[in-house]
Amino acid sequence: MSFDGLLSQNGAVSCAFCHTPGLGFADPKHVSIGVGGKRGGRQAPTVYNTAFNPVQFWDGRAGSLEEQVIGPIVNPVEMAETHENVVNKLSHIKDYVDQFQFVFGAGINMHGIAEAIAAYERTIISTNSTFDHYVLGDNTAMNEEAQRSMALFKGKARCILCRNDSNFTDNQFHNLGVPQVGPMKEDLGRYYVTRGPEDKGAFKTPTLRSIVDTAPYMHDGAFNTLEKVVDFWDQGGGKNSNLSPLMKPLGLTAQEKTDLITFLKALKGEDIHFEFPALPELIQRYSPRLAAGNSVD
Ligand code: HEC
Repeated sequence: MSFDGLLSQNGAVSCAFCHTPGLGFADPKHVSIGVGGKRGGRQAPTVYNTAFNPVQFWDGRAGSLEEQVIGPIVNPVEMAETHENVVNKLSHIKDYVDQFQFVFGAGINMHGIAEAIAAYERTIISTNSTFDHYVLGDNTAMNEEAQRSMALFKGKARCILCRNDSNFTDNQFHNLGVPQVGPMKEDLGRYYVTRGPEDKGAFKTPTLRSIVDTAPYMHDGAFNTLEKVVDFWDQGGGKNSNLSPLMKPLGLTAQEKTDLITFLKALKGEDIHFEFPALPELIQRYSPRLAAGNSVD
């Protein structure tokens, strides 16, 4: 279902449209483009390891993957559909009806759709990286440069202050002073959820696992490369009246900056074998419209 455009109003925008396998289950665009070419205000984060996130979205407004799924379907700049229409459309596809009956013992409903997609997302795990092999005891897995970069990560570069669990995040929200680019003038992030002034402009710390695959970076895709991100950290972040007190200029040398990126590369998980799934009755769904000369989007 994550690959099925039927969840969207125009039949073309599936979850995978913005969370693309092969591109780190993220979106290479600065901000996502949904039904009708509408631009959203934020960059699509990776689905890798969202199974371990206590909350979802840059502002943490969804408490679970199941709750998260509901969002993009009705979001006017993403899939722009109604839940009623989605249930209705899927109810006309025999394969889905049969599978729902088999798994849930019920007809198609939003609750089941959310559970099914969330169950799939929990299989998208970035693991078995070079770093994992090293910490599991294979001393040869990381070369001297990578080991040096790990020391930097934990020490001078202060990354560990927020990248302190096995998924390389503290699951907290911080204001780094990221420049606001894209269609939104100002994005107050976590503040929209808590209304606490201390949360103005704070965004969730995303995982660093497979980060080399998921450019661009930050909530608005402000930086295209890891080099730019490391330069930004080195400066102590950007300017903001609510800047996190953890942000400090680091004084990294050019070699240290390169080393940090070496460490980030060591966090790339093993490739997930992926084949685009055959969608139930795809031909039957679209052929009448194609025959009539209509495009599917
Ligand atoms: C039009 C592009 C688009 C589509 C379609 C889309 N997403 Fe997203 N997704 C995004 C963006 C942008 C965000 C970040 C939004 C925010 O934080 O406010 C996001 C956030 C997420 C997150 C949160 C990740 C995290 O680390 O917090 C998950 C999980 C996710 N999407 C899964 C899905 C699923 C499942 C679907 C299909 C039902 C879907 N997305 C459809 C663009 C899209």
